[in-house]
This record gives sequence, C-alpha cells and structure tokens, in this order.
Amino acid sequence: MTHTNEQQSSPFQDENSVGRIHHARSTEDDTRASPAVDHEHVSVPVLIIGAGAAGARTAIELAKHDVEPLVIGKRAHGDAHTTLAAGGINAALGNRDPEDDWQIHAADTLKEGHFINDPAGVETVTNAMPDRIRELEEWGMSFNRTEDGKIEQRYFGAQSFRRTCFVGDQTGKAILETLVSKAQELEIPYRENVMITKLLSDGERVYGAIGYDTDDGHFLRFEAHAVVLAAGGYSGIYNRHSSRIDENNGDGAALAYDAGARLMDIEFVQFHPTGMMGDRYGEDWDGRLVTEAVRGEGGRLFNARGERFMERYSPDQMELDARDVVARAIAQEIREGRGTENGGVYLDISHKDQEFLQERLPRMYERFAELGVDMAEESVEVAPTAHYSMGGVEVDFETGATAVENLYAVGETIAGIHGANRLGGNSLAETLVLGKVVGDHVADESYIGAPELPESQQRAADEHFRTLKALSGQGSEDPQAVLQALGDLLEETAGIIRTEESTNKGLKSLEALRDRADDLMVGERTGRSFEYAIDLEFSLTVAELLLKGARERTESRGAHFRSDYPEESEAWRKNLTYRETEEGMTFDTTTPRDPSEAVRKALDADYELDYHQLE
Ligand code: FUM
Repeated sequence: MTHTNEQQSSPFQDENSVGRIHHARSTEDDTRASPAVDHEHVSVPVLIIGAGAAGARTAIELAKHDVEPLVIGKRAHGDAHTTLAAGGINAALGNRDPEDDWQIHAADTLKEGHFINDPAGVETVTNAMPDRIRELEEWGMSFNRTEDGKIEQRYFGAQSFRRTCFVGDQTGKAILETLVSKAQELEIPYRENVMITKLLSDGERVYGAIGYDTDDGHFLRFEAHAVVLAAGGYSGIYNRHSSRIDENNGDGAALAYDAGARLMDIEFVQFHPTGMMGDRYGEDWDGRLVTEAVRGEGGRLFNARGERFMERYSPDQMELDARDVVARAIAQEIREGRGTENGGVYLDISHKDQEFLQERLPRMYERFAELGVDMAEESVEVAPTAHYSMGGVEVDFETGATAVENLYAVGETIAGIHGANRLGGNSLAETLVLGKVVGDHVADESYIGAPELPESQQRAADEHFRTLKALSGQGSEDPQAVLQALGDLLEETAGIIRTEESTNKGLKSLEALRDRADDLMVGERTGRSFEYAIDLEFSLTVAELLLKGARERTESRGAHFRSDYPEESEAWRKNLTYRETEEGMTFDTTTPRDPSEAVRKALDADYELDYHQLE
C-alpha cells in the first residue's frame, strides 16, 4: 500500500533538503477514502506560476538566496507574453534629459493613474528602476545607445522626460532572454507546457497548485511552502486584444480569487490606442500592437479626412498624451464617422526614413513590410485594442503577500501600481522591481522541511482531478465559440465606454453564456478545446467581476469611462476591492495613501511632456 504523501516525504527528512524539488507519481491503486486519480506530484519550496519577466525575476532573487524555486509556464521555456512587450522600459536615468529623477517618474505615474495607485508601491518601483536597468546591463542586455555610449531613452506617452530605455521595439523579448539566461546560469528549474487549473487553498492559506501537462495530458499536483502567482492579466478576455491566443485570460486573478484572495480595481482595463486592423492586415493580426514607440519616435495620427485630430483633443501633448486619452479620441473619431473604411485611423511616420525606422522600430518596419506596407512611404491603419489590466490581486507592496497566507502575486496579475491608467513602459519596470522584492521576502521566510499537504487538500485535489476528467465529453457548445461570444459581449458592454445600462446588459448576457459553458463539447486534455474550456472558466469569473465593478464605479477615471457619469469624482478616489464571501461577491473600498514629501514636491512642480520638442 503506497500513500502519495509518504512518497513525497523522503527527500525532506532533514532541514538541508529545503532547496530541492521532488517528483513522484501516484497511481489509481493508492488507497484512501476514494481512490486517488493518477497524477504526478512535485514537492518544491516555492512554486512560481508564470514564466514571464515577473516570474523569472522572482525566481532569480530566490535562487540568489539559495532557495530553489520551480517556475512553471504554459508555453515553451523562454516564451511568455513578455516577449510581446515592445517599446521600452522606464527608468529615470536622465541620459537624455538630466532634469529627470525617480520622484518625477513617480509623480507622472500617480498623475496618469489618476491618484488611485498606491504611492508607496509606485515609489518602490520608480526609485529602484535605475538599479534594475544597470543590473540587466550587467547581465548582458544590449540596450540601444546614445552617440556617447549611454543607454538611449525615448519619449513615451504622458511622461515628462525621455526615460524609456529600449532595444529597438523588442524590449520585452530582450529582457526575457536576459532573465532566462541568468536563470539558466543559476540552474533554476523550469517546467514548460503546464496549465494550472486550481490553487490548493483552504481560503486562509495556500498549500500548492494543481493542473495538467498540456503535452501528454497527465495531471500534476504541486506542493509548496509558498506559491507566487505571476500569471499575467486579463485583457485577453476581450475579442480585440494585443495578446496572443490563450494569453491574459485572467488565470492569475481567477485562481487567486478562488483561493480566497482579494482582488482590486478589476474595472480598469487599458485600451492601447494603436492595435492593427484585422480587416486590413488579416484576422491573425487583429488587435496586435503597433508600439507606442512609433508615436514616441514622432508618429502622427490622422483621420480619414486627413485631419491630425489630436490637435483638437490634446493640443499640448498630441499623440503622446496618456493612452486613455488617445484611445478615446480615436474611438470618437471612428464613432463620429471620420474613421477609415476598415474602422480605424491612420498612424503615419513616413516623414522618417527607412534607415531610422529599421534602427528604432525594426520589428514594426519588418512586420508591415511583410504585409506589403513600407512605413517609410505610407501610413498604417490602427484602432484601440485591449492591452493591459490595471486591476488584479491586491497585495502588500513590501512583500507581494496577498490576503491568503503563503500566496504571493507579482507582475500584471496584481493591482495597485498603475491606478486607473498605466504609463507605457511601466509594466516591464514593475515586473523587475517587484519580482526582486517578492523573491527577497519569500526567501527570508525560512521555510523548513517538506511542505505539508493536509488530508483535506489531498481530497480537494482528487476531486478537482475528477472534475477535470469529466470535462472531456460530448456537450454541444464549442468552448472557443463561447470564449468568442464572451469577448464580443465585453467589447460591447464594458469597452472604452460603459454605462449602467451596458453593464447590466452584459451581466444578463453573461448568464446565458454560463449556461452555454455548462454544455461544452471538449476533447482530450492534450487538445486545444480542453485548454479553451479552462480559459473560459477563468474568463467568465473575471468578466463577471469586471462588469460588476464597472457598474459599481459611478464616475469616469482614467481607462474607466462611464458616459452616464462622465466626470471624475473625488468621492471615488478609492480602490474597489472584490472578495468572495458566503453571500457571494462583495465590494469594499479603500482610500489610497498619500505620497511622500519628495514625490508631493514633484507633483506640485507639475512637470508635463511637451510634445512640440519632438517636431
Ligand atoms: O506600445 C508599447 O510598446 C507598449 C508598451 C507597454 O505597454 O508598456
């Protein structure tokens, strides 16, 4: 008679074994109250769910403290959504504009976040960023350089100075490659192609996670002292979005919520002003990013009448005003009939020559060239696309801790740094700074011996495996079609503009989608339909919270625009928190803290980007 937890205990018999990972396989022969479902189980000190920049940077910090984490990703090792981050990463190095400093970076972030960001968290990120950039440089990252050899910095939207460091327009890819090679040097174990479907939690404390291997479908149970969620955001639940398929489906937020964590500000979704137009470039490209760096390097927006319409919306900051402002302006031009035949507007940088574009925007130049468009000669067609979630899991910014003991979160999975609207270039910054913070803290927790999984959690795992097994079957609904319908619903009812009526309509239609989701036709675990069915569950959870939050917040602030409440309301300078209780989902509000004196001074100085320096 073999018990799974007897198998797992052996490698942790002494304290020195804390940094090791142990794998074992249970079988259907295991005897407990009801037989265990066949699965592999893995014991590890710290489990990191998500293999993008946030997960990788957290892992590196842990490894530097001699704690061995296991990083798991849904895709192949080295591939994560981070690779799509394009235009750059912000750090007040002052290489181009020596007046810049981290306090002004913090002030810009707070101002454009409409003052519902956590000032202490923002200060942590902006203050540490110059060090994180130097660290990347030491680890081998080749940034673009100024003529005198310093790291080059470009303009990005709504930032008072040039502070966005970059590697052409593939900055995220370069960062992830640098982090992955550092992780390899530190021999950090990765496990690829793993889909996590549930956290093992009793609502107070987390014990691990479960899921399956998408290559061969076998079930997995991970036991860990601490679990770090670095599983991305939820902008992918909209139909028109900048992520790849099966990215940013809300896994992080939904897993945390189910485990008992509090979520925050879910109603804030960033629509990037310039996504590619599917009708013009093909469905596969619909919504994909045309980096803000195009505008940062001088790109101009025109409507179908040839008017440079940002002159009307934002004469001082023009195309480089904050993303929410530019996205709404484009949406308005299109709505009022001044858009292109394909339903977009034109983005034009043809006043720059090919050599310049190939140096500063190589990926964009090449991508459009392959599609038959020479950016040095003609404009491209764009329209807003769901790009980033400002909302997510509520955490303590000194540790990354969530409301559930031993559960941490980092990166786009969390809320609070970007407030109501994120500055481009700040998401990569946050992943690096807070990844280090979380890794540092978790390493200090001095976990000893083997992680223990209570009987109740073992039973919960088996029950969940049985539920997953039962998922493959012959219903009548294609999970991908239901996901698509959900994306349409959100575009229509919780897009750039929302109202009480639209969110009510969205919630009503969501009920019908839930009925459809109960009748899915799902294939084997190795197939896409199984993954879509899991994505659908996460997406439905987040969509409901998003719609409810968008209805609850009766004001307009940053990316959340309510046409029935078009003004920002001081009474709503609050964070909205979401929590599952016995009565179902309940809201609470918290008031953001005040910034430090130094950042207050930078705010009072009222710095602002002066677009006309670019012309
Ligand atoms: O447009 C971009 O390059 C996006 C950057 C970001 O979202 O930070």
